[in-house]
Parts: sequence; C-alpha cells; structure tokens
Amino acid sequence: MNFNQLKEKHIEIFGGNIDELRTFSSPGRVNLIGEHIDYNGGFVLPAALTLETIIIAGPRDDERLGLAATDLDVLVKADFDKIDDYRNLDWGNYQIGVAYELMDAGYKLKGCNLLYHITVPFASGLSSSASIEVATLLALLSMANDAPIIVDDEFKKMASLISQKAENEYVGVNCGIMDQFASAFGKKDNCILLDCKTLEFRLIPLHLKYNKIVIVNTNKNRSLAHSKYNERRAECDEGLETIKKELPNITCLADVSVEDFNVGDFAFSSETIKKRVMHVVYECDRVTKSVEALEGGDIATFGRLMNESHDSLRDLYEVTGIELNTLVDEARKIEGVLGSRMTGAGFGGCTVSIVRTDCVDNFVREVGKKYVEIIGYEASFYVSEIGDGCRERVNE
Ligand code: GLA
Repeated sequence: MNFNQLKEKHIEIFGGNIDELRTFSSPGRVNLIGEHIDYNGGFVLPAALTLETIIIAGPRDDERLGLAATDLDVLVKADFDKIDDYRNLDWGNYQIGVAYELMDAGYKLKGCNLLYHITVPFASGLSSSASIEVATLLALLSMANDAPIIVDDEFKKMASLISQKAENEYVGVNCGIMDQFASAFGKKDNCILLDCKTLEFRLIPLHLKYNKIVIVNTNKNRSLAHSKYNERRAECDEGLETIKKELPNITCLADVSVEDFNVGDFAFSSETIKKRVMHVVYECDRVTKSVEALEGGDIATFGRLMNESHDSLRDLYEVTGIELNTLVDEARKIEGVLGSRMTGAGFGGCTVSIVRTDCVDNFVREVGKKYVEIIGYEASFYVSEIGDGCRERVNE
C-alpha cells in the first residue's frame, strides 16, 4: 500500500479530511554482532532496515487516542485520563505505553487517530516493537506540536529512552536499549556502533563489496521468549556479582576483558553462569574485532566473527534452538556465504547472513528447501537494505 492508499484507509476508518493527515515512520533493525550485550553495558552493531512501521496520523477533537492497523481487525480508543488502564491489551499496549511514558515525563499530548502499517514481520527478532514505539512517539509529539519536530540526535536519544521505558515498565518486557536506539538513529547504508553504557555512538559505513545481507525468518512461534530473556538477564546479574568479589571496580560484564576472565579465579555458582559470562566477555571482543575488520574492508574476517558469535550463542548462552541452528548450518554449506548467525534475542526469530550477490538465489533455494525438509514448515527470506531511522515522511 502506498502512502495515498494508506491515507484513504485512514479516512475510511476514522473519517476526517485528507489534508490534515501526516505520515511518520520508524524502522526495524538487524543486529550484525554484539548479541545479548546491550544490557551488559557493551558495544553492539545494529543497522536499521527498510522494513518499518508507517503511521498515518490525523487530529481528533477530544482527549483520546484512536489506534487501528491495516492488517488487523482492531480499533482501540484510549482516554488520556485513563492512560494507565490499557496495559493488558492484546494490541495497542505498546503504543499506549509510549503515550503513558510521554505524559509521565511531562509532555502534553493532543487527541489523535493513528493508523499503523507495519512491514517488519511480527515476533521475528527484527524489532517490530521498537519500530512501533519510536514511530508512535514521533507521531504523538508531532500531533501535539504546532511546529514540526526537529528530529536531531537529542530528540532521537529521548525517543529511544522513553520507548524503552514504555516497553520495560508499561508492557513489562525487560529489553535493553539497542532496538529503540537503532530504530531512532538508523542511517541508510550504515551500521551503528553503540556503546550501551554511555549511549555514545559512531556510524560505520557498511561497504559489503559484492555481498548482500540476507535475513531469514524461522517463523517459529516465540511465546516463551520473554521469560527466557529475563532468565538470561538474571544469570548475567548473578555472574557480575560473583566477578565483583574479585574485581570490585567493574560495573558491568562488558568491563571484564578476555584476559581478566582467563586469569581470574571466580567462584561462579554453576557452570551455566560461567558459560553466560564467557559468552558476554568474548562477544564484546568480537565486536571490537568486527569493527576493525569492517573498517579495513575485510568482510571475510567479519563473516568468521559472525559464525563464532552464533556458535557462542548456541553453546554458551543457549538461546538458539533447532530452527535457528538449522538455518545457520545449512547456510554455511552454501557457496558464497561469508558468515551466518542468529540476530536479536533468539529462541526463534531470524538469522542474518552475508552472502555473495551472485550466490543469493541459490542460497534462498537451497536453505529454504532444507529448512522445510528438517523443520516441516517454511522459512521467509528478505534480501535487506539498510535504511534510515525515524522521521516524518513529507512529499512522498
Ligand atoms: C532483544 C532486546 C535487545 C537485546 C537483544 C539481544 O532484541 O530487545 O535489547 O538485548 O534482544 O541482543
């Protein structure tokens, strides 16, 4: 659906005048490396996709928020003065959570109707939720402001933090900052090297030469993902407390170097905790090496680091599963694949692979065939472009 068709749909659902409608968007993301590192205070390397949440926004003359979506038969109406009451909605709680957190932070909102058109596949590990949150935040503040919002770095930082807070506190999912930050700050053809401890970042041009980024969705139902995610966070917290007894100056697991880890004598309560910590320590090291490789144009080394990252997430962090492992194992057998790993939280979701452009068709055919044979249902493939972050879409 193009923007004009979306505007017509908005009028069909909410009524009103087409000239008053405005369009906003914010993308999903793929994380290239640095997995389960954001909440451990280290560096991550995500990139925004051209898959995105598009919002068509129109004014209302009352103090309510109207929400609808192009692919769902839902119409939610939320009152600003009862904004705390919508936490358990099946759909709409992420959006209302953003309104809640904005109001809590002192922003004055105005009633508006928002129609969502979301091209980020749902529950895929490509951060559809962060794209919804950041797009909603931009739409709500823009509709409440007479002058257009200036979407500069300061605004994007605020947008990421408030969106994360909505997800943590209103929705109750304890995510880190990576997804919202990538959605807000994305830049076409760049990845973002983000220091999750300080929120300082640097854009790194993604010159993949003769290669493409191919994302494959396991299409696995991820209903247990939230509880497993929170379990990993708790295990990391426990590992950190143990290490602090020997190294009192560290503030997060990302502060522990590979050398510290190898020479240290830490009394971890179990082998499991030790494995979780080991993943974090080595994954941080891989991010540093990946940046060197990418900046030096050494895509082959970057591909190897991606492979090592997946193996660590499979064996040490234990967040993969047969679906992700099958995609990665089959990908690595295909000619022209430089590296392949899971991306995002895991437990299903997507893999990301770097594939030589002339080998992509064969990759899609062969990995797709093997996946159906082994898993019993189909995977979905996206040859992805790296796109821009949140913005108002004017004259498109
Ligand atoms: C999810 C979370 C992120 C991050 C990743 C794992 O996407 O939302 O904050 O922790 O998992 O790297």
